[in-house]
Amino acid sequence: MTQKNVLCDVGFIGLGVMGKNLVLNLADNGYSIAAFDLDIEKINDVIKQDQLENQSDSPRVHGCFSYTELLSRLKTPHLIVLSVPAGSPVDQVCESLIGAGIQPDDIVIDTGNSLWADTVAREIKYKSNLILFSSAISGGEVGARFGPALMPSGSPYAWTRIKPIWEAIAAKVDAETGKPLERTKPGQIMAAGEPCTTYIGPAGAGHYVKMVHNGIEYADMQIICEAYHVLRTGLLLSPDEIADIFEQWNNGPLDSYLMEISVEVLRHKLSESLPESKDALVDLILDKAGQKGTGLWTAVSSLEVGCPAPTITQAVYARSISSLKNLRVKASSMLAGPEIQPMTRDEKSELIKQLHDAIYCAKICAYAQGFQLMKLAAKEHGWQLNFANIAKIWRAGCIIRAVFLQSITDAFQRDENLENLMLDEFFAKQLSEHQHNWRKAVAQTTLFGIPTGALSASLSYYDSMRAEVLPANLLQAQRDFFGAHTFERVDKTAGKKYHVEWSTKERNIIEINGGHK
Ligand code: 6PG
Repeated sequence: MTQKNVLCDVGFIGLGVMGKNLVLNLADNGYSIAAFDLDIEKINDVIKQDQLENQSDSPRVHGCFSYTELLSRLKTPHLIVLSVPAGSPVDQVCESLIGAGIQPDDIVIDTGNSLWADTVAREIKYKSNLILFSSAISGGEVGARFGPALMPSGSPYAWTRIKPIWEAIAAKVDAETGKPLERTKPGQIMAAGEPCTTYIGPAGAGHYVKMVHNGIEYADMQIICEAYHVLRTGLLLSPDEIADIFEQWNNGPLDSYLMEISVEVLRHKLSESLPESKDALVDLILDKAGQKGTGLWTAVSSLEVGCPAPTITQAVYARSISSLKNLRVKASSMLAGPEIQPMTRDEKSELIKQLHDAIYCAKICAYAQGFQLMKLAAKEHGWQLNFANIAKIWRAGCIIRAVFLQSITDAFQRDENLENLMLDEFFAKQLSEHQHNWRKAVAQTTLFGIPTGALSASLSYYDSMRAEVLPANLLQAQRDFFGAHTFERVDKTAGKKYHVEWSTKERNIIEINGGHK
């Protein structure tokens, strides 16, 4: 067979940063790929990279210059991976593939950050033309190249075909220790280890789980940033000094990829690119955060499902408020705040310890919210999610990978029906041991006038969740007063509704039959 006639194992559409690296990862694992992009330069680029890295005699990546050519160069039934931006590009590619003659038993895997409801609708829309499968991916550029976490969902038949490929390219975890197995060089293959992929459920479930992963990612990042802010502007530490503290923290329960990269970022000097400067790069970056939408979707979904997720939602607000730079600059000269009083060396080291515990507790809250959200959404949509397996596949490859994910895996293995992570014996103990320092840190940062929305929203979440009584009794009375919305009574049978005739002189309490009056 000539090179031109080689039929490839996998078709690939979208050769941007993620796509290109996934293609090379697939190639390292022995799959031949027919690769297509609307941008010819990107096709040439991945072919060139394959030539540089390829150790065999025959090319592993074959460039295709049209959808028709792509289909003609694949084994049947076709397996095609999409790495295109979420939204209309996914539909454009599906329509083009239909135009090019894709068959109903061909599988198209959407690896983008699509909105989960769009995925549900797409699976139905294209049912008679192709099998739309989804597999959200986490891990960024390096993850895509050397092992990401993959969250597949959709047709169980499609999964039987995709599974061996996904298990090959996914990040791996040491089965004994739960620690990530490193793979950092092209051509390197990891034979052993538990792969960071598991079948999540029907269409939409995988994208929902990835959306919540990103919501947690927002919270995790914001929590670290708030600690940085306190250390930088409250204790006036340099980026290098903060990097030292974070590096130390990265050896304990806070050990995570996000903490690790924060250390690298804080140490990065401009002098590495500009020889005349010794400044930290972080000081030069404008404090306006971007967002592509997955954190916002998580916050919106938490409100829709009725699952409190204040740490995650606060992390989204923090990005929004950061983007109002001009308004903040104006307000900074008009709105008063406290003077930050210098601290003694002992007070400083005390606050640093307290901040560590505050991060740890806030992080537990963020994950508790994310997992509870998935639980409630699963109930609403009829998905059977396995939370121990979800925590397991987040132990390596993905952006929120952390030592901590093993403890979450253990918690759901102890009790698969766990209502909220904070109620697991291990996490309840951690929270109770560290809550005192968490309170002190939040109190001190409040006195400093430094915003720590995620740390304090988490504390308020914790205190609300452990409160047997909340002031919703007064709130119910207010609702009944102005809107006759009725209330239940602590001394009567649950479910019975009462109303006070507020506008009469007697203000009698009457029992309401049939709910809202
Ligand atoms: C991942 C990341 C990835 C992407 C985010 C960034 O898991 O690999 O989450 O999906 O980096 O979408 O999101 P923002 O631009 O909204 O921060």
